[in-house]
This record gives sequence, C-alpha cells and structure tokens, in this order.
Amino acid sequence: MLVSAGIHYPRATPEMWPDLIAKSKEGGADVIQTYVFWSGHEPVKGQYNFEGRYDLVKFVKIVGSSGLYLHLRIGPYVCAEWNFGGFPLWLRDVPGVEFRTDNEPFKKEMQTFVTKIVDLMREAKLFCWQGGPIIMLQIENEYGDVEKSYGQKGKDYVKWAANMALGLGAGVPWVMCKQTDAPENIIDACNGYYCDGFKPNSKTKPVLWTENWDGWYTRWGGSLPHRPAEDLAFAVARFYQRGGSFQNYYMYFGGTNFGRTSGGPFYITSYDYDAPLDEYGLKSEPKWGHRKDLHAAIKLCEPALVAADAPQYSKLGSNQEAHIYHGDGEAGGKVCAAFLANIDEHKSASVKFNGQSYTLPPWSVSILPDCRHVAFNSAKVGAQTSVKTVESARSPLGSMSILQKSVRQDNVSYISKSWMALQEPIGIWGENNFTSQGLLEHLNVTKDSSDYLWHRTRINVSEDDITFFKKNGANPTVSIDSMRDLLRVFVNNQLSGSVVGHWVKAVQPVQFVQGNNDLLLLTQTVGLQNYGAFLEKDGAGFRGKARLTGFKNGDIDLSKLSWTYQVGLKGEAEKIYTVEHNERAVWSALESNASTSIFTWYKTYFGTPEGTDPVVLDLESMGKGQAWVNGHHIGRYWSIISQKDGCKPCDYRGAYNSDKCTTNCGKPTQTRYHVPRSWLKPSDNLLVLFEETGGNPFKISAKTVTAGILCGQVSESHYPPLRKWSKPEFMNGTMSINSVAPEMHLHCEDGHVISSIEFASYGTPRGSCERFSTGKCHASKSLSIVSEACQGRNSCFIEVSNTAFRSDPCRGTSKTLAVMARCSPSQDTSYLGF
Ligand code: GAL
Repeated sequence: MLVSAGIHYPRATPEMWPDLIAKSKEGGADVIQTYVFWSGHEPVKGQYNFEGRYDLVKFVKIVGSSGLYLHLRIGPYVCAEWNFGGFPLWLRDVPGVEFRTDNEPFKKEMQTFVTKIVDLMREAKLFCWQGGPIIMLQIENEYGDVEKSYGQKGKDYVKWAANMALGLGAGVPWVMCKQTDAPENIIDACNGYYCDGFKPNSKTKPVLWTENWDGWYTRWGGSLPHRPAEDLAFAVARFYQRGGSFQNYYMYFGGTNFGRTSGGPFYITSYDYDAPLDEYGLKSEPKWGHRKDLHAAIKLCEPALVAADAPQYSKLGSNQEAHIYHGDGEAGGKVCAAFLANIDEHKSASVKFNGQSYTLPPWSVSILPDCRHVAFNSAKVGAQTSVKTVESARSPLGSMSILQKSVRQDNVSYISKSWMALQEPIGIWGENNFTSQGLLEHLNVTKDSSDYLWHRTRINVSEDDITFFKKNGANPTVSIDSMRDLLRVFVNNQLSGSVVGHWVKAVQPVQFVQGNNDLLLLTQTVGLQNYGAFLEKDGAGFRGKARLTGFKNGDIDLSKLSWTYQVGLKGEAEKIYTVEHNERAVWSALESNASTSIFTWYKTYFGTPEGTDPVVLDLESMGKGQAWVNGHHIGRYWSIISQKDGCKPCDYRGAYNSDKCTTNCGKPTQTRYHVPRSWLKPSDNLLVLFEETGGNPFKISAKTVTAGILCGQVSESHYPPLRKWSKPEFMNGTMSINSVAPEMHLHCEDGHVISSIEFASYGTPRGSCERFSTGKCHASKSLSIVSEACQGRNSCFIEVSNTAFRSDPCRGTSKTLAVMARCSPSQDTSYLGF
C-alpha cells in the first residue's frame, strides 16, 4: 500500500528539496512523484540542461537517501500547467512533425528524449533493482482524453509508445494514466478527485491513482480553489477501502512557476495548488496533519489489506457500506481491518457492524485497523489548524549598504526609497528586426524566446479619410477575428488600447492623423497552451482575418500589408535584469512623485529580511510585467482582480469540483511572489521589474510568511492517538485502545517555538480558530496547564482528559479542549521579555 506525494522539482530550488521531501515523509508518504520537464532539459535541440532546478539526478538521489521511493513520469508530454505541456518549442519546427500521434519525426524525438532520461537514471543507478528509489515510470499523460482526435493513428501511437518504453529495459513497471486501452504490460491508472470506483483494464493490474487532485490551479483573474481536508481524506479512504493500492497527491507541494514556465491559457505564477505544503514549503494545516493521521490509520490496516485478495462487502444501510479485509498475517495469526463508509451527503448514520454500534458523520469513512475500534474518521479533524501570517520584513541592522535605502511607513517596510527607471522603446528598437509581407504567426517568429512580438506597418491616411471619420463620428478600428493572449495597439507610439482573451475577437478603435501613421501591434503570450490535441498547431497571436475598418474606400486587409517584426524587448535582449549587465543601460533616478508610466523598467537594491522564513515580494502596487531578483526570473506578475462572485462558505460534504470552494473573490489573484532564500544574499539584492501598464515601485515591500497562529480543537470523544496503536497490547486486544485518552498536538514550523498561548479552555469552548471563547463549562487551570506544556517549545501535546486538567469542570458533559497559540522564531526571545 503506497502513499505518494507529488513534487515537481523545477517548481522549487534544490535548496528546498530536502525539506520538502522530509516533510512528505513525515506526513506519511512512501513515494515521491514527479514529471520530467523536457522543455527545461532540452531547451535547444541536442543541448541538454541538468543543472540547478533541473538537476534531476540530484533530486532523485535526495528522494532515495531519504528512504522514499520515486515514481518518475517521463511523459514527455506532461500537461502540468507547464508552458506548452512540457514540450520544447523547437519541436514545432521539426519538419513534418505532428505531436502525440503515429508520426515518425515526433516519435523519433520522443524516443530520443525518453531514452536519454532512462539511460541517465540507469547510469546513476537510480532504479530500485540497482538500489535506487525509482519503482515506477510513466509514458505519455492522459492520452486517452485526446486519442479519438487522432483516429487509428492515435491507437497505433499508444502501442508504439508502450513498446518503445518497455524496450528501454528500465526494469520497473510503466504506467499510462487515463488510458483504458493501455496494452497488456502497461498499467492503466486513474486521475481525478475520486478514484474509488476505478478498475484497471485487466485483473492482473494493481489499482493505481496517479493524480488525486487535492486542490486546483488558478488563472490570472480567477479566484483561489480550496479542497476541504475532510473531503480529501474521504476520497483517499474510499480508494483504499475499495481495493486501491497506490495513491498520489497531485500536488503534495505545488510550488512556483518561476520564469515563464507557467502554462496557459493565463496560469498564474504561483502553483500553490492548495497543497498540504504551501507554495513556500510550509505546512498548511489541517490539510497536512489530517492526512498524516489518515496515512497512519491506513498503514495500520496494511497487514490485512495485503493479506486479503479482495474485501468482503457488506451493506450497512441505504447509503452506508463496509469493506472488510481479513486473512493470515505475515507474522502468523489472523489480521482484520474494516472501512465503514457513509456516503450520505447530509446526514450522519448509526450503523451496526460486528455487533457494535458506530456513528458515521455524513460523507465520511471510519477506519478500523482491528475490525473493532475506530482509529480515524475522515470527517473528524484532530490535527491543528494553522493561520499563515505575512509580516513586513525587518532587515538585519547594519546590513544596509549605500545601495539600499528602505523606508518604513504605515507599518509596512517598503523595500526601497531609491529607484531607477528606464523607458523601454515602444515599437521596433534594434537591428535584428525584419520585414515581411503579411501577418506571421506569433510563435513561428518568437520561438517563445520572449512573451512579446512587435508588428509595425505604415498606414497612409488621406484628407478625405479624415473628413470621412469626422462625418461618421467614428474612428477606424483594428478588427482581428481571433487572438490570444494579449494585444496592445499603438498608433504613432501612443497606446490606443489592449485586448485580453483566449482566442477572442479583438476590436480596437484607433486615432490616425493625416499622412503617414505607424500602426504598432504588440502580441503577447501569458503561458502557452498545455492541454489538448494538436498543440503544435495551436500557436499564438492572431487567427483569421485582420482588418482596419471604417475607411472611405472600404476596409484595409492588414494581412496584405508589409510588416516589420521585432521579437522581445530591448531590455530583455540586453539582459538588463542581470547583475552583470544592468549597468549597461542608462538608468535615471525615479522621483517618488513621478506619474506612472507604461513600458518601464525599474531597478533597486534591497536587503534580505531577517530570519529563515520564506520571503515574498508584495507587488500589489504594480500592474503587469515580469520581475527578476539577482538575475533570477521570479515570474510574471499581474495585479488583475479576481472575479467578484462565486466565493462562498465551504461545506466539505458532497462531491468536490474546482469551483466548489474558492476564496479571494474581488481581490487581485496574486500579489505575493516567492523569492527563494537561496537566491538572496544578505544585502544589496538587485530587483529589476519590467512594467507594462504602470505601477508604483515605491510601494513594493518584502515580506516573510510563517504559520504564525496555531489552533487545536479536540474533544474527549476523539480517537486515541494513532501512535498508541503500535503497542502490541492494543493490537492483540489485551488492552482496549478506547481506554487511551485523545491528545491535542501542536507544532510550529522548524526554527519556531510556541511563544504564547492566547486561548485555552477545557470544557465547552465555543467558536473556531481565532474566535474562540469560553463556554459555560471551563477548567480554570486550562491556560496555565497548556502554557506549561507548550510555551517555549517547538511542539507539544496535551491529553484531553480530566486527569490532565486535574478536575472535571462539568460532570456528565462531554468536554473539548480548544487552544490558540502563537509561533515565533526560536532565536527571537523578545517575547520572553529579555
Ligand atoms: C491533469 C494532468 C496534470 C495537470 C492536472 C491539473 O489532467 O494530467 O498534468 O494538468 O490535470 O492540474
């Protein structure tokens, strides 16, 4: 029985990997799963990159040395909200290529890359039969979703891909996910929010769930999806209940789409995914802890789960059912484990099982590792809740150099009061432009070396035309049948307007003067398409007719004109965002009251916030653009506001979908951008921004993120701690686990301690985290007992019992312990009053 944690290595830094893997293991994972990102490893055909965030061998070795297994999904098409689904852009230019079908040029490149990865893994001795961690591979990704579009050639391609993969002699099983026609020697696997009904296409194959979507991704302008911990635990418990053997969280850690790696249409820079480890690698609670408990409960059932070929089924009620696994244990003796499910979305149910009564909350599964006592129920969360706090960063004293001058205002530390600016030329800026007849396809020209492509043409406007426009009271209009992702129209270097959308019609009125006018069209990409059939034909920029309407002599067909093209920005070409080259450009000091301007580069230097907490830049004061820290591209930024409606309080009960529980409506989709600590030096960090629409860099701040507040709420009737189950006297029944009191566990992030207990009540406390209050019944020593157990410690636990609280504050009433605590960096002792 394997529990797997999805982590994509390039969405973190190598410095973050060990901690992410360790936290996955601590949370109960046996396996780490990752895709392999072809576009990152072979950015130029034949030139490989296995360095830094793309050091795959290093990542796999860390997984191995942590004692975990690895599921390597080579693809090499990966989807993954990754630019172009992981395909390198040069693949479009291979003569005659058609992606993901029975096409010789494609198959040749695919085979070369997959072979390269398998060989690399074998040479580094990373397969399990060599003593390494790799137990399983994957070829293709959800091809079943698009196979029909390719007809017979699609079917042939599946067979070819399978044989090609098997022919590499990797010595471990290969998986194809969502592939009902996967050939005999390839395991077909399930992806989805629930996979408990899944049956592979042959009885000889194990039941694998390669992607359990524990959250979802976000678009610019979208709200933030959130999948409740209770529903997730329900889905996982149901999967193992009904015969599953491998389940992977997509994602356990989502991370960040650094640079221009985010896919499209319009995926944001953060890939937090509402995963149990957040974008920065901090535990999100109770998502992390509830899963840890779930995994521990499933592991207690493992001897029985593997002993039985199939579960015994019994119906307990109209919406309630039990699956019982029993057989001979490996160590001799009988083993038995049971899962009791209530799939009713509204009501809890009382059921009888083996002569005992059990109460099952709605939409929940109870796990009974001995077929008698409940170790875990998916709807009862005993794990702590954490509240992330974002603090305005303090720079260490004395670390400020002459380059950096931060300012503190309204309790926010803005990173600098001294900024330099530089205007990016509007339009054609360099020698490397070229002129061509007609409108060229965006990606054919840029090869995705930049988001930006300038098109310039000349429009001659006669006196008659001007009179005509005036008489009609209407300006001429640039009208394009279809475009993606962003179009900006300029006339004589003045911005007329912008259009945003995914293959939408663009209609932009423009104002011409009499005589010659420069018409500039800037097409932009915001992440290339990563899903769907025929990706190679998808392209960017314009499709269909492009016209200039409203002229006296009829429309002007823009595709018949001669256009001058320029790829990218001057600042990009000169690499003015790097430490080495930024001085090349002529920057000028920016006045603090300067009005905002479009197409502007900004730079400053800033000091690194104190401590070890993850660092973010708050770019809410900016418009849209890209940012670099010490030459590292931290991603695209965009302060676009999320949809106003659709966010509502979340009920864990009932089937989840990505629109069910979202937050952040009416606010900018993303304001904080992760800057990994390893990209920072103590002082004088170069920050360069390219701003497209206008913003105020003086209001940029650096902040640190931490799990600053913890809450726990555990009642007397909660289940005994899972770790107690490992004691033989409980497993063999000489003692009843029910005699063990439940516990509340609190833990701060590493390097932090519980600095204060803000609330504690053993009795009948009310409210929820951050809003607790004491009820009628309250043990007077609650606060001092909890403080004594926890204050100054990184983690602590308190028994939820009268014994622990030295009295029974209300006989005959079921009592609950509620605690709210604050975590602070452990080296910071100011809270102790020193
Ligand atoms: C799946 C796909 C993943 C990812 C996911 C959504 O269909 O296999 O790569 O894109 O959807 O996050």
